[in-house]
Amino acid sequence: MIEVAVYDSKPYDRDYLCRAASSHDITWRFHEFRLSSETALAAKGAQAVCVFVNDQVDRACLDALAAIEVKLITLRCAGHNNVDLLAARENGITVVRVPAYSPHAVAEHAVGLLLTLNRKIHRAYSRVRELNFSLNGLVGFDIHGKTIGIIGTGKIGRIATQIFRGFGANVMAHDPFPALDWAAEHGIYYTDFDTLLAASDILSLHLPLMPDTLHLLNSKTLAQTKPGVFIVNTSRGKLIDTTALIAALKSGHIGGVALDVYEEEEGIFFQDLSGQVLLDDELSHLLVFPNVLITAHQAFLTHEALSEIARVTTMNILAQATNQPFLKGTEL
Ligand code: NAI
Repeated sequence: MIEVAVYDSKPYDRDYLCRAASSHDITWRFHEFRLSSETALAAKGAQAVCVFVNDQVDRACLDALAAIEVKLITLRCAGHNNVDLLAARENGITVVRVPAYSPHAVAEHAVGLLLTLNRKIHRAYSRVRELNFSLNGLVGFDIHGKTIGIIGTGKIGRIATQIFRGFGANVMAHDPFPALDWAAEHGIYYTDFDTLLAASDILSLHLPLMPDTLHLLNSKTLAQTKPGVFIVNTSRGKLIDTTALIAALKSGHIGGVALDVYEEEEGIFFQDLSGQVLLDDELSHLLVFPNVLITAHQAFLTHEALSEIARVTTMNILAQATNQPFLKGTEL
């Protein structure tokens, strides 16, 4: 029997992992708390640990996991900015991820956020339920004909682009590794970052968080954007400097911000804090802007994505246990 300690697990993780492993010899040990150097010991006796975006898999944590002979870390996500890969390698721990579970889920959520924010559907929904059928304050704009700047044209950015093209929007993109054939096929053109910032009515972020993309949108780059710009971030919170974002919202420079991720989401997102006082002042501030829409890192949350995450995780755990190769492209 293979034992796996699953950290930061929610009811939907349990459902899908149990279903995926129903005919295999895997015992899941589900923990609601996150993995860190302090909680690593809870994995004692497990061959693998399974983690998500906000587990802190730093060097201290990896040293602790190695000491209890954990050999494998499976990420239930694509991004791996929370894992010290060098420390993992030095500790003889293999790290695998799910590189693409449903890029459609995330791209569709990004578009959904933009439509909701622009057409104020969230406000209209509450208003109509109060029998307030007034349209005052609900004016939006057509996406058709607008210029959308896509930052990062990997799996998710490309699908988002294609959806936006369906609206009749012009799409320009920036990526250090441009996909030129795809761009030609879909009528997209690549440009440098500064040009994209200055020309876009809507910016959508689809790039990973890395040391050189931390605070990609900051006071300097936000000042380069078009007045009234809408910004959609479904990638990672730390791509945007929240303090600078709030300043640009207060000055009226930014037209709207839709976030599925937040710089300091760790310890807040994925929890029900409805009975508590929110201690994060910047998040509190963001939540009161009428032109800010926030979802709590749910872009991935579709049946298709959860099924694929559970399938890839299960297959890789079995592969490790039987000395078989990991699924293609999953090993970091
Ligand atoms: P991907 O690896 O397929 O594509 C990322 C693209 O970003 C690549 O083409 C890369 O060249 C480009 N890139 C790297 N540095 C850049 C820079 N400085 N400027 C512009 N482009 C740059 O990744 P994928 O699957 O498209 O995912 C994108 C991001 O979405 C992930 O890194 C992850 O952070 C986020 N994500 C969020 C989810 C959510 O639930 N909110 C779920 C899944 C992913």
